[in-house]
Amino acid sequence: MIQLFNVYKTFGSKNPALIDVSLKINKGEFVFITGPSGAGKTTLLKIIFCAEKPTSGHALVNGRNLNRIKDRELSLLRRRIGVVFQDFKLLPGRNVFENVALSLEIMGVPLSMIRKKAHQTLRYLGLAKKEDYYPPQLSGGEQQRVAIARAIINNPLILLADEPTGNLDPDLTMEIMALLREIHSKGTTVIVATHSQELLKDTTRRIVALNKGRIV
Ligand SMILES: Nc1ncnc2c1ncn2[C@@H]1O[C@H](COP(=O)(O)OP(=O)(O)OP(=O)(O)O)[C@@H](O)[C@H]1O
Ligand SMILES: [Mg+2]
Repeated sequence: MIQLFNVYKTFGSKNPALIDVSLKINKGEFVFITGPSGAGKTTLLKIIFCAEKPTSGHALVNGRNLNRIKDRELSLLRRRIGVVFQDFKLLPGRNVFENVALSLEIMGVPLSMIRKKAHQTLRYLGLAKKEDYYPPQLSGGEQQRVAIARAIINNPLILLADEPTGNLDPDLTMEIMALLREIHSKGTTVIVATHSQELLKDTTRRIVALNKGRIV
């Protein structure tokens, strides 16, 4: 599903954010990316999301070589990848339904289909009663669930979650992690970046540890 070969990523003249990273993630895996602040976790997710290209090395995502992919193919590929950011990145001026529906709208999906998918996804995440709420009226856990709804509404092949529980208390953290496991159990490849040792304590999942841009 995802293969990185000797990937380097340098921003400007600073020390590289990723150094010689080689990694294979199979279809249907659940993988944690961990490491201290600045280790390169977000950069690695951005490469997989095709938001950044490797400075050198190769990245294959769903069989596509990101160094060679055409813009048209790239936008199709990115539609198959759901992303959850640490700071939610919800649109505060749009309600829950609109936040979740937006990506389908941009793709030109017919309105009746958008309604159906958005209601279904929000119900699945326990947000049916909050469809008309605006993000500032929601709790942190609810906002994160809206962000997850938005990421999975298009049935992505890959779900990338960057510190998905970063701002949440322990109970909500457990709830969000259970949700990610459930999404994984339905066949989605899930990659979670976190610096939290707490999240990794009892896991049996694969953990990829980064330090100063290298896999350790
Ligand atoms: N767009 C950018 N421009 C310049 N430098 C960047 C950029 N993005 C990341 N970096 C640098 O790359 C390094 C790795 O950053 P990255 O965000 O991947 O770390 P991280 O492991 O996600 O850290 P955190 O746990 O704090 O989120 C850092 O030194 C950072 O300053
Ligand atoms: Mg980060």
